[in-house]
Amino acid sequence: MTSKTDSKVIDGKEYAAGLRGRIKTAVDDLSSGQDYTPTLAVVLVGEDPASRVYVRNKIKFTKETGMRSVEHQCEASISQTDLIALVRTLNADPDVDGILVQLPLPDGLDSAKVIDEIDPSKDVDGLTEVSAGRLTLGKTGLRPCTPTGCVMLAKDRLGDLSGKHCVIIGRSILVGKPAALLFLEQNCSVTIVHSRTQNIEAICRNADILVAAVGRPEMVKADWVKDGACLIDVGINRVKNPDRPGKTKLVGDVDYQDVLSAAGSVTPVPGGVGPMTIACLLRNTVIAACLRRGWDTPSVLDF
Ligand code: GUN
Repeated sequence: MTSKTDSKVIDGKEYAAGLRGRIKTAVDDLSSGQDYTPTLAVVLVGEDPASRVYVRNKIKFTKETGMRSVEHQCEASISQTDLIALVRTLNADPDVDGILVQLPLPDGLDSAKVIDEIDPSKDVDGLTEVSAGRLTLGKTGLRPCTPTGCVMLAKDRLGDLSGKHCVIIGRSILVGKPAALLFLEQNCSVTIVHSRTQNIEAICRNADILVAAVGRPEMVKADWVKDGACLIDVGINRVKNPDRPGKTKLVGDVDYQDVLSAAGSVTPVPGGVGPMTIACLLRNTVIAACLRRGWDTPSVLDF
């Protein structure tokens, strides 16, 4: 039975599973009748446990959607020169459609420099300067994954976003800034608020769509939320679990229980935006494969 509050939950896990199904359909279509499989190269440097889990899942879902993955596990001690040489080798490999360098990189490596070595036509994370420039200019290109997932979930719940006021909490390069541009592309009026913003709660109370991407556990409370607003929670924060001493749990940047009565809809943590990041990475891999070959992007990937 679905209760009133259940219907407010935006199920990112379910949406992501559906999107992966559509990606598989697109991949099967592209591969049928020819000896070709879209291919994602994944580069993991060092032993960061969270990164290992993310990369394992990225590889698993790449294969599940019918694509090929090429994995490069590098020692944390790899030099910047050698890591850039690896990226350049992948750039030059005609069988590689997308390149993902898992972040953060270990100390001593310059992430921005390494990322910017990726051929923009293979930049499935949408993080190179060229991809950021194309997004800013409204030109065709590969868009960052997590912010794309936020727009998809908001559109799925609200339909046309035109004219809605979207407030984004956080101005990071990975989420806040590109999310602002992507919601603008949907004809939203967009406000970014951040640590120096005055009257942050009052601005958030004006939002039809509130995107929280700051990394501050349960910061957004009910009195920050306009009645009926759509809340997209990008935060993934590990905190002590008060119900299980010695254990931890994951919470978002939104105080989920507190906002439930005011919000029109809200993404849970986990199971909201999180699963969308990988699904959008796989979608970008198919888009990159098509763009590089001059093929139309399969309409089944539209949102
Ligand atoms: N680490 C955390 N999120 C991401 C992401 O979206 N892309 C990459 N490359 N690394 C990450």
